[in-house]
Amino acid sequence: SAMIWKDESYDKGAFDHYMRKEIADQPEALRRTLSGRLEPRFQTTHLGGITLTARELLDVRRIRILGCGAAYIAGALGAHLIEQLARIPCQAEAASEFRYRNPVIEMDTLYIAVSQSGETFDTLAAVQEVKRKGGRVMGIVNVVGSTIARECGQGIYLHAGPEIAVVSTKTFTCSVVAMALLAVHLGRLRDLSNANGARLLRALDALPDRVAAILEREDEIARLAEFFQGAEHAFYVGRSAGYAIAMEGALKLKEISYLHAEAYPASELKHGPLALVTPETPTVIVLPRDDLLAKNVSTIEEVKARGGPVIAITHPGETHAPFDRSFEVPALEPELDPLLLNIPLQLLAYHVARQRGCDIDKPRNLAKSVTVE
Ligand code: G6P
Repeated sequence: SAMIWKDESYDKGAFDHYMRKEIADQPEALRRTLSGRLEPRFQTTHLGGITLTARELLDVRRIRILGCGAAYIAGALGAHLIEQLARIPCQAEAASEFRYRNPVIEMDTLYIAVSQSGETFDTLAAVQEVKRKGGRVMGIVNVVGSTIARECGQGIYLHAGPEIAVVSTKTFTCSVVAMALLAVHLGRLRDLSNANGARLLRALDALPDRVAAILEREDEIARLAEFFQGAEHAFYVGRSAGYAIAMEGALKLKEISYLHAEAYPASELKHGPLALVTPETPTVIVLPRDDLLAKNVSTIEEVKARGGPVIAITHPGETHAPFDRSFEVPALEPELDPLLLNIPLQLLAYHVARQRGCDIDKPRNLAKSVTVE
């Protein structure tokens, strides 16, 4: 592996697992990702590693985000943020799919590669395919000087610090925040107002403390994990940005607990998976307080009507939905709330895996960096 941090140079200290330490690291990691990048004077963000000029960024008509595993899912959430804030059509795609489908590279598209290690072979190959065809690409990378970072030549470093656990936690969160910084930057070059820019800067600045406040409630989440006792299958559902969080929650659970967790758009449940809902199959619903709340409440009712147990990861307040258990995260701003809802899902996966006695930091069959084809 091309990992530049040696395990012994970074101790897990009082923590039982690197994963748990890295979850706990998130407020500090976020402060480093944000450091020097908020520019309240112009209600925008300062991204010194991007070499494209303001004029070139203004000419971008489309954005495509490429990555593998959790980096791809971070890209899906980043795509929502960019499209919402900058009003530039933006989509995420698995780098491994992109590189093999003879993609059309357009002059006015910006490609973004997301990678913790900066060494994932499929992501590197996707970057090389873009470059070979004359396209522009930037990196959202954690490891400074890694192959993908060098190949891109520009981008945003996460500065999240070392991540040793095979599954990504703090670098997922920091990648999304790096894309939020980019979204504000691109938005403020276009139609995002001063007031909205200022509102988002305040929210980004508050994010590390909000994450810390959720982490203090770990005991509540450990109790939620008992809900999975006796289950072999689970659904994770959500809509829009909430669906990206459902994907990440399900990926984490399956990687470390070996439970079969399947993410589905809540809207698609009735087109198939509802047939599998039974009293032994819990559903986790990501329930931000957004325009789709009423739709999500009817999804919960559909699952409950089939006897399926439901856990809602949501905000405090009246939803009148018949879920069985919930974890409530105080809302910050609608754009960043989905990212906050992911924090309890990291701890939920951790505690389910722990209760099942799994090898949390080194799940079977998985590697931290997949540097081969
Ligand atoms: C592997 C790891 C995942 C990671 C993915 C992408 O599959 O097991 O945890 O999300 O690679 O890694 P990268 O270093 O490119 O973010």
